[in-house]
Amino acid sequence: MKRILVTGSLGQIGSELVPALRERYGSDHVVSSDIRTPAGDAAGDGPFEQIDCTSHEQIQRAVLSHRVDTVYHLASLLSAVAEQRPGAAWEINLGGLYKVLEVAREHGCAVFVPSSIAAFGPSTPLDRTPQDTIQRPTSMYGITKVAGELLCDYYHRRFGVDTRGVRYPGIVSHMAPPGGGTTDYAVEIYYEAIRQGRYACFLKGNTRLDMMYMPDAIEAAIQVMEADPGKLVHRNAFNVTAMNFTPEEIAASIRAHIPEFVISYEVDPVRQGLADSWPNSIDDSAAREEWGWEPSYDLEAMTKDMLEQLRQKLQRSG
Ligand SMILES: NC(=O)c1ccc[n+]([C@@H]2O[C@H](COP(=O)([O-])OP(=O)(O)OC[C@H]3O[C@@H](n4cnc5c(N)ncnc54)[C@H](O)[C@@H]3O)[C@@H](O)[C@H]2O)c1
Repeated sequence: MKRILVTGSLGQIGSELVPALRERYGSDHVVSSDIRTPAGDAAGDGPFEQIDCTSHEQIQRAVLSHRVDTVYHLASLLSAVAEQRPGAAWEINLGGLYKVLEVAREHGCAVFVPSSIAAFGPSTPLDRTPQDTIQRPTSMYGITKVAGELLCDYYHRRFGVDTRGVRYPGIVSHMAPPGGGTTDYAVEIYYEAIRQGRYACFLKGNTRLDMMYMPDAIEAAIQVMEADPGKLVHRNAFNVTAMNFTPEEIAASIRAHIPEFVISYEVDPVRQGLADSWPNSIDDSAAREEWGWEPSYDLEAMTKDMLEQLRQKLQRSG
């Protein structure tokens, strides 16, 4: 049975990954951790440690005291925040990853690290972007992501650390709010559709990006870590996707349920610039072939579920 530490676990992905891991491996076997302390019952029903991922000592202490053998390293600054705070993004995204990999090397842990479609750049082929291709990102977030992919490959090749990971597209979810990324619009739009019947989008209406619903993102993280290593040609940074759409298209899928919904546009040049430098769609055939990746949700199924879940959530919170 694995004993797992999750860093940055109070964020958008960790809030749902921790309960899923606890269901699978047992609550006591999954340590939640973040630089923040949990509000209310956000830590869930298992152990929580306050850990700054840039501290070797704090990571090591948790790994030793909980006899951790697998780290899901989620702590990071996201794309829009990283553009506002590039120095902090370098320290946390790359410095934190280095510390996690060092502790993993010293104590024999496997490590899951999520990369992103932001690891691509304007010179990357933009349609059906291949698994192995040109990666010259122009944002600080993207630079830390591509360097992180290479560092994970290095730790595997040089030290035998069992590093694995995926390149996530934008993740849509209804539990924890997104942490300041370029694809946050695809979450906000559902909240505002229910609350106001209208939404002012910060990306242009024809901006096409890959996306994924959270249940598929969680499955991808668990499946790649459980994959038979003998079948993995790649290890880190598998392209994974479930759907791709534009703001116009997600608005149309919402109008199938809320016909009066109106989308307007107040374009944020920073986030538009980030989105324009990323692929329109990525090719995830390597993940499908090497470890059986297959998403469950398309845009229609996601919209139906998001609206149902959010209506219940917003009703409960009054
Ligand atoms: N959400 C997405 O759409 C998306 C897409 C692609 C990749 N990713 C990647 O997935 C991972 C998790 O993303 P998320 O959406 O949950 O992010 P998030 O911003 O919602 O959560 C990140 C968490 O990290 C914590 N954190 C920040 N600095 C820290 C530090 N020094 N030490 C420990 N914790 C710290 C924050 O408090 C936060 O709870 C990140 O690596 C991100 O780049 C996310």
